[in-house]
Amino acid sequence: MRIPPLLHPAPGKDGSRRFALTLQTGRTAILPGKTTPTWGFNGTFLGPTLRATRGDTVRMTVRNRLPETSTVHWHGIRLPAVMDGGPHQPVESGATWTPHWTLDQPAATAWYHPHPHGETAQHVYNGLAGMFILDDDTRPELPSDYGVDDIPLILQDKKFDEDNAFTGRVLKGTFGILGDHVLVNGTFDPHLKVTTDHVRLRILNGSNARMYNLSFADKRTFHAVATDGGLLPAPVPVKELALTPGERAEVVVAFEPGERVVLRTVDNGVDIAEGDLDVIRFVAAATLKPSPAPPAVLAARDAIVPAADARVRHFVLNGHDAINGEEMDMSRIDEVVPAGAVEIWEVENNVYSHNFHIHEVAFRVLSVGDGKPAAYAEGRKDTVFVPGKSKVRLAVRFGTATDPKWPYMYHCHILRHEDSGMMGQFVLVEPGTERTVSRTLKMPHH
Ligand code: C2O
Ligand code: CU
Ligand code: CU
Repeated sequence: MRIPPLLHPAPGKDGSRRFALTLQTGRTAILPGKTTPTWGFNGTFLGPTLRATRGDTVRMTVRNRLPETSTVHWHGIRLPAVMDGGPHQPVESGATWTPHWTLDQPAATAWYHPHPHGETAQHVYNGLAGMFILDDDTRPELPSDYGVDDIPLILQDKKFDEDNAFTGRVLKGTFGILGDHVLVNGTFDPHLKVTTDHVRLRILNGSNARMYNLSFADKRTFHAVATDGGLLPAPVPVKELALTPGERAEVVVAFEPGERVVLRTVDNGVDIAEGDLDVIRFVAAATLKPSPAPPAVLAARDAIVPAADARVRHFVLNGHDAINGEEMDMSRIDEVVPAGAVEIWEVENNVYSHNFHIHEVAFRVLSVGDGKPAAYAEGRKDTVFVPGKSKVRLAVRFGTATDPKWPYMYHCHILRHEDSGMMGQFVLVEPGTERTVSRTLKMPHH
């Protein structure tokens, strides 16, 4: 299996870390035979892994060498809205965009991908996605040697045509693409040579629509150690773990010398989890080096607790193309949120599967339908599955980078739905100024 290279930042004069990403087209050997036309960052397919530490100022140079406009969004990262890389920060073909911000959030596995309005599904499907690892000084004793016992797994399902090109229409049908092969880090039929007795997997669902319901073929127990937004307070033993598009999980798996085992996704009857598919084969060496088992305690508990009188906002996911009856409109601000607020967002779904992602924030899932979320999903998150005919309640903690003119997005991360208009916009403002904020943006405002 291919491991995305770490992109080493250049030191900036001001002590910042400078990363350069170039969006480009190319061809990649994925299947035997013909190469596949693909898009990538700094290469022909997917992107390098970015890595930085809380407190770092990062300076990005994003060059667009695609034949069309795109954007680069930093999914799971708290930053000012104008740096967010959503649909309001287009980078035209040939142009360069230079966002910068200071990282201030707990260690987590985040990612980056394009977000041009109406084109996200195609740009991501073509191959534009990469991981962004954030560190802080908690550093519990977990496997952490990148590419050795700390392994990124970017899961993306694809369909190929007879010329080995990606096929399938990303904006057709109820969900767009549900592929019949899972690529891991862009590798077809991958296997990983395991060299240590414990391995941490940073799993990113970078697929357009598919939900992965992951378990090992031998039903072994493994430990969930982190969700989207960072470490869990303590490891949670699991036999299976589900991820919808955009979600991440970190897990630690124990291996025996010489063994082989397959991680797969199992059809659990959910519409977006269709089919049983192998994800990756692990092949353990005859002797394994020691690597830490998860410690009893990972991080201080930092539950997001809303006040008794917290503001409650309701969102109804309509069909596949609207929220609260309205299609996404880049010139309309849907919600105005006071900086630093902890609110309750209720997301109701009366149809088939959706999920819900909010930019900038960390949230805790309070309930899913009448129940609690799975124990492994009780940590800080930014994306959550909203099963058909159910309601999820979220305690959402907003940041403090106010800007009434530049919005953040919330949306279904099934990209066919996101592109079709199942997305809304919020701005973060100084508390007390909510009523003075214009609900209309002049477009384009850049
Ligand atoms: Cu993964 Cu609005 O993004
Ligand atoms: Cu995002
Ligand atoms: Cu959806």
